[in-house]
Amino acid sequence: MSSSSSNPLWGGRFSAGPDAVMAEINASIGTDKRLWRQDLAGSRAHVTMLGAQSIIPADDVAAILAGLATIEAEYEADGVPEVIALEDIHMTVETRLKELIGPAAGRLHTARSRNDQVATDFRLWVRQACIEAEAALTAFIEALLVRAEEHADTILPGFTHLQIAQPVTLGHHLMAYVEMALRDRSRFADAGRRMDECPLGAAALAGTGFPIDRHATAAALGFARPTANSLDSVSDRDFALEYMSACALAGLHLSRMAEEIIIWASQPYGFVTLPDAWSTGSSIMPQKRNPDAAELVRAKSGLFLAAFQRLAIIMKGLPLAYSKDMQDDKRPVFNAHDTLSLCLTAMTGMVETLTFNKARMRAAAASGFSTATDLADWLVREAGVPFRDAHDITGRAVRMAEAKGTDLDGLSDADLAGIDARLTPAVRNVLSVEASVASRTSFGGTAPANVRAAIAAVRGRL
Ligand code: ARG
Repeated sequence: MSSSSSNPLWGGRFSAGPDAVMAEINASIGTDKRLWRQDLAGSRAHVTMLGAQSIIPADDVAAILAGLATIEAEYEADGVPEVIALEDIHMTVETRLKELIGPAAGRLHTARSRNDQVATDFRLWVRQACIEAEAALTAFIEALLVRAEEHADTILPGFTHLQIAQPVTLGHHLMAYVEMALRDRSRFADAGRRMDECPLGAAALAGTGFPIDRHATAAALGFARPTANSLDSVSDRDFALEYMSACALAGLHLSRMAEEIIIWASQPYGFVTLPDAWSTGSSIMPQKRNPDAAELVRAKSGLFLAAFQRLAIIMKGLPLAYSKDMQDDKRPVFNAHDTLSLCLTAMTGMVETLTFNKARMRAAAASGFSTATDLADWLVREAGVPFRDAHDITGRAVRMAEAKGTDLDGLSDADLAGIDARLTPAVRNVLSVEASVASRTSFGGTAPANVRAAIAAVRGRL
């Protein structure tokens, strides 16, 4: 061992230990202890390979594996001890191993550096996070499908500019979020596939002269293959950035849905009622029932953008290969992961339990001259009027109805004929919201029949 006060694992060339603040700024154990399972898995794969390649003696391999098993049981039972002087999870494990099995522990780090070790641990962790995100998104999608099916022909207003535009079906509206969530899911799958390469064996930066078998360690850890370039292996964190960019887009979608729930739950809308389990009261206003969970999803979903930026800013301009800056890569990723899983669970719970107030939605859908486009389309179809002229005629009908304080169907036959002779009473067939949504059968349109087909198609894909 080196001088008593310097680091036992790397202190050989030092004569004094670190300043207390140096030790504090250097330590990452408070954050990276979360990688302990991955770290043990990486060490197992590495030491097994070292034995198989006759790089270290078989009895030392056995002792190290036994020691790692003990450490696993200890951490499982009591958590990972946080000793600042031991810096990080890698040195925490190795120090404990030495206490348990003695000098043989010193052979574990043969042909390995903490640089490839941490890159491997972190990739394993993020790859698993991608799988978890896919599963959480699948549960969210399944909840949406159930509600979309239940409300394939429930009618609500569709909005543009948050102004009533045309009637749509609630099933169709919910299926819009399904499409977003499917793309979000595929982004995690895609990122997971791209990061499926094992950095272990890149060593500090240049590879190693020991006859290691990187294909064996990659396979043992469930990676598709080893990474191809040792410098790249220890110096890039694009896999973590990709994960957080996928989180950011999923969060962006969740925030829009959260916002709609908040608007829909407000009294002037009254489209939805959140169950007690997903509402909170006010400490002063006894009547209140607030959509706090949706508001918090709206707020928290901004964190992903910040987390992505935090790491992107750390990485920007870093020279190859490893720099200690990269030690700060984990916290944003862990924050993003925890926030995404909380937000997705909350949104899935709300989707499952929301009550949709069909009468309020239908009444709103019928207001705001929402079938004006149907009237214009009818003129084009039935009377051969060019669409621009039909648009103008319909605009005049809307103006008259507005002046009379009625909806389009409230205009008399004489009113309609007065606007344009081609507006015969037969037009009334297309003025109902039911007729409007049922007619929208173009591929991807809002008709109930389309919604049911879209649900079946997604179920087939899941
Ligand atoms: N705790 C470090 C990290 O997370 C491990 C790698 C340290 N490498 C080094 N050369 N100091 O990045």
